[in-house]
Amino acid sequence: MTDRASHYLTLENLASKSVGIADLFKTEPKRLERFVMREGPLRADFSKQAISENALDALLAFAARCDLEEWRAKLFAGEKVNTSEDRAVLHMALRGVGGSKTHQKQVKDMRKTLAKFADKIRSEGKFKNIVHIGIGGSDLGPRLVADAFEASAEQSLTLRFAENVDGASVNDATAGLKPKDTLAIVVSKSFGTQETKMNGEAVCAWLGKFASTNMIAVTANRAGAEDFGIAADKIFDFWDWVGGRYSVWSAVGLSLQIAYGPKVFDAFLKGAAKMDTHFRDQPLQENLPVMMALTGIWNRNVLGFTSQAIIPYARRIRKFSAFLQQLEMESNGKRITRGGKDAGLTCPIIWGDEGTNGQHAFFQWLHQGTPGAPVDFIAVLKDHEARPTHHAALLANCFAQSEALMLGKPEYKVREEMEERADMDAIAPQKTFPGNRPSTTITLDELSPFALGHLIALYEHKVFVQGVIWDVNSFDQWGVQLGKVLASTILDEMETGEAGDHDPSTSALMGLVK
Ligand code: F6P
Repeated sequence: MTDRASHYLTLENLASKSVGIADLFKTEPKRLERFVMREGPLRADFSKQAISENALDALLAFAARCDLEEWRAKLFAGEKVNTSEDRAVLHMALRGVGGSKTHQKQVKDMRKTLAKFADKIRSEGKFKNIVHIGIGGSDLGPRLVADAFEASAEQSLTLRFAENVDGASVNDATAGLKPKDTLAIVVSKSFGTQETKMNGEAVCAWLGKFASTNMIAVTANRAGAEDFGIAADKIFDFWDWVGGRYSVWSAVGLSLQIAYGPKVFDAFLKGAAKMDTHFRDQPLQENLPVMMALTGIWNRNVLGFTSQAIIPYARRIRKFSAFLQQLEMESNGKRITRGGKDAGLTCPIIWGDEGTNGQHAFFQWLHQGTPGAPVDFIAVLKDHEARPTHHAALLANCFAQSEALMLGKPEYKVREEMEERADMDAIAPQKTFPGNRPSTTITLDELSPFALGHLIALYEHKVFVQGVIWDVNSFDQWGVQLGKVLASTILDEMETGEAGDHDPSTSALMGLVK
């Protein structure tokens, strides 16, 4: 048995001894003090997790035994913690925290260049629209953030996104726009991504005679962008020490800077920096990302949950679960440790949608389905929509759901409420709720760019902590390669009509496309 597995077993003993969540509030008078944490505009309430104070102590000791503090120091020092790709991981440096003087200078210079360019586009008034072309980390972050900025900032240029290789994506992104006043930004760290190159070519053709002036690129592969046909002075760089799913803070966020202004973007960076210094400096027991990561480890490795739901009760961050799917599942969806061994259970499935919509769809499963899932509820306290009655109802629903998940409803209560009826024995059990289902509630004072930066950075660091505990490299993504290679072969064969060497099912599917 590995050291880590034996630790999980010790933790499991604690789990079997632990009582229900609601009872923990009675036996642990200081529970709120211990399990509620605040940093800046963000408050996270972990008290509705099925973890006793003793279990939390054991988890913290376990994290220390996994050398979490040492790994954290290596991360911020800019050591090459992405071992399989031999790279440092320094998205925090984009926010002004960590890395060497050289990193900090590169970032400072680039921030100046980007702000100058964004201000120029905004003041000239030549462009009315931006089409942002990119996929995965070159799309999900900017898309999430653009929606969220709408709560408190004004979009000065129309911002559209083209990501998928489905032609509908690029058609919708350009529909109704004029090439003359549209700026196309091709965003790709590698500049080798099929979808982005095809959409870039399609938009280039759509721009026609304006392509040479109206198309720019953001990349860590300048040569690739130049080969594609973008002039050297229209290329904005970022670096191999910025992972794609951690890149919204870099030049990848250029379209946001143009659409909302560099000041708004700076506030977003500052919010993340505040979470960076919190994560870097706070002891493990008072550390928000550590607490979030450990509750996730408990739910996954001790209680055996297979998924984690993310439910923002805030429409403007409804894409947060999609963003986190890449951040968490591409980072920690691994089965092999850094040392090449079996890693055991790692990242759960991340899923979710906005509340209250989900209540009328999948919440049935959350409350009564098997096995259920831990939920992160995210709410914004300020009403940004000048609709106070709507906002009160939104918050009430959010708070009610976590209470309902925890308390449930026992059968005797259901029977008390039901009128005497012949089929009582069959119906009453169906109306009961098991309860004791864990959740965390995160509240933001407001959905400002600063608070948003804070929130995203919290999850980024949570992913890092979990990667350390699961002993996986959170910063590579070899698992996306095989499908990409096969897709390229299949596309070639479909174009040439060659049969290729495939299994009967795949051959039959290819035969459908004539
Ligand atoms: O295929 C996965 C992936 O490599 C992600 O990691 C990345 O965010 C996305 O594709 C897009 O990559 P790029 O920015 O290099 O086009």
